[in-house]
Amino acid sequence: MNILKNTAFLLLTLLIVSCSTTKKEKKTIPTYANDTHSYAKPNEAVAKHLQLDINVNFDKKNISGTATYTIENYVGTEIVFDAKNLKIQKATVDGNEVKYTLGANDAVLGQALTIPISASSKEVAITYETTDKTEALQFLNPQQTADKEHPFLLTQGQAILTRTWIPIQDSPQIRLTYNANVQVPKDLLAIMSAENPKAKNENGQYSFKMKQPISPYLIALAVGDLVYKEISPRTGVYAEKSMIDKVHYEFADMEKMVNAAESLYGAYAWDQFDVVVLPPSFPFGGMENPRLTFATPTVIAGDRSLTSLVAHELAHSWSGNLVTNATWNDFWLNEGFTVYFEMRIMEALYGKEYANMLASIGRQDLAEEIENFKNQPEATHLKLDLKGKNPDDGMNSIAYDKGYLFLRTLEVTVGRAKMDVFLKEYFNKNAFSTMTTEKFIDYLNTELLQKNNIDFNVDNWVYKAGIPKNAVKIQSDKFQKVEEAIEQWEKGTIKEEELCKKNWNIQQKIHFIRNIPVGISLEKFTKLDTACNFSNATNSYIAMVWFEQAINHDYHANNVDTHIDNFLMTVGRRWYVSTLYKAFKRNNRLEDAKRIYEKARPNYHSVTVNTIDAMLEVY
Ligand code: BES
Ligand code: ZN
Repeated sequence: MNILKNTAFLLLTLLIVSCSTTKKEKKTIPTYANDTHSYAKPNEAVAKHLQLDINVNFDKKNISGTATYTIENYVGTEIVFDAKNLKIQKATVDGNEVKYTLGANDAVLGQALTIPISASSKEVAITYETTDKTEALQFLNPQQTADKEHPFLLTQGQAILTRTWIPIQDSPQIRLTYNANVQVPKDLLAIMSAENPKAKNENGQYSFKMKQPISPYLIALAVGDLVYKEISPRTGVYAEKSMIDKVHYEFADMEKMVNAAESLYGAYAWDQFDVVVLPPSFPFGGMENPRLTFATPTVIAGDRSLTSLVAHELAHSWSGNLVTNATWNDFWLNEGFTVYFEMRIMEALYGKEYANMLASIGRQDLAEEIENFKNQPEATHLKLDLKGKNPDDGMNSIAYDKGYLFLRTLEVTVGRAKMDVFLKEYFNKNAFSTMTTEKFIDYLNTELLQKNNIDFNVDNWVYKAGIPKNAVKIQSDKFQKVEEAIEQWEKGTIKEEELCKKNWNIQQKIHFIRNIPVGISLEKFTKLDTACNFSNATNSYIAMVWFEQAINHDYHANNVDTHIDNFLMTVGRRWYVSTLYKAFKRNNRLEDAKRIYEKARPNYHSVTVNTIDAMLEVY
């Protein structure tokens, strides 16, 4: 009895104490950075949690429902969301319908959706429907899937497309948790960047929880006839039935990758790491949606040769998803760090030489990108100024490969041990927050450079064009061998048959093809294909670089034109297809490009369509 009384007393005291502290607690007004790609004014009112209740309609090819936000409110007049090509039907504040306004439509940003609130407002609900202009969504017909039986839906949020399927404060610095109820046709499975079901149920109703605050661009949904296969208790793959075993084989090292990543930079923060392999129209290689990476089927090579993509998306679980670029001008903080981390994971699993081959491929990409931007040097700065532009325009290999080169040069300068301590602490101290370039540089200066008395030209790397002189040289012994063979081939001291008999791995073959001399004769080029049969390559990366060279060398034998045509008709991965259309354009074959594109365009996601439309100046 006494114990009970005492406990009751204790509870009461606790209650009083906690009430009085909440009363005293003052709301600290946040200081979000200025993001020119969002209309939201988070310093006035900001969404903290999203309850998403939606229905996916495959007949109408749309999504409809309600987004309900729990908000924090500092000024008490209005809250502003981003919306693009959405049909807004109703807005309520704490259950009462209010009069909202939609601002002028900007072709890139969409519209500001302003909802009046008062100082005490807590919950804002928006009822809406997507339209056929909704860029994030791609509804696929069964013919575009692997099994060819059921339709498919995928979303792509990065950079500013989440606002095209959910009205939201669409700035990467506005982190929020979310729960979702999603109704889909009952023969399909829905999965999100959240806690996921592992199998279909009878009614097609699925519920999701993302309990850690994430950026809006990381909200993602895929709906299709998918199955799950576990790799380890915390890793596994989703794919269509006909693909699942191949996918499971390809990504068998996923748990090892998570382990290696954790040993480098601390515990994996998201519990589960799964990958869903999507139909080939998915516009990216991979997308790091938390707990559920989205991936292109073009990396399912059968020999695990392209799995660095998984290491890359996994690395984003730290660089990007845990510590997030505050605005798209800081995109290199996401991608440069991720490429560096990707290389470290690959090195841990497969050794230094393998990582050096990957890094060398990136180094050549960087040289080519800098050449592309020779008339636009400011585009080669790490920190960008994308005001008034589509942030997509800043998403080239500068952020990735110059970002990587910066961090690798820093590593060599300070030593790996210090670099690793620094990075581990950086992720740990800044977990679940956002980072501007300026804040990072401050942090780097105080925590690494000054502490160790090291001079490093950070500003030069970040705010100037091109590659600074202190950049480290990236070398691979295996690539050196390839370069020697190319020289011999050019001189005629080695035959095509011999070249093809060399026991080169996929990266070496890629390096070889990419470095075929510009002036090689058509005769030699033809002999090469006769011997190595690159035109029939099944590895998508090899095929892509070979097709590019075929176009460059005006090569038409071995049915290569048909293969290029088929490739462009099925694959929608932007990097691959834009490389090929660009090659057509560069080689005065714009008509060929347009002829293929006209047929292929309906198969592509809007992200790819926007890029190719601009490149070919059509539509
Ligand atoms: N986050 C990116 C994809 C992205 C970037 C989407 C910008 C939208 C805007 C992803 O992590 C990525 O970098 N994917 C690469 C693969 C990687 C191995 C370099 C890709 O898609 O090719
Ligand atoms: Zn990335």
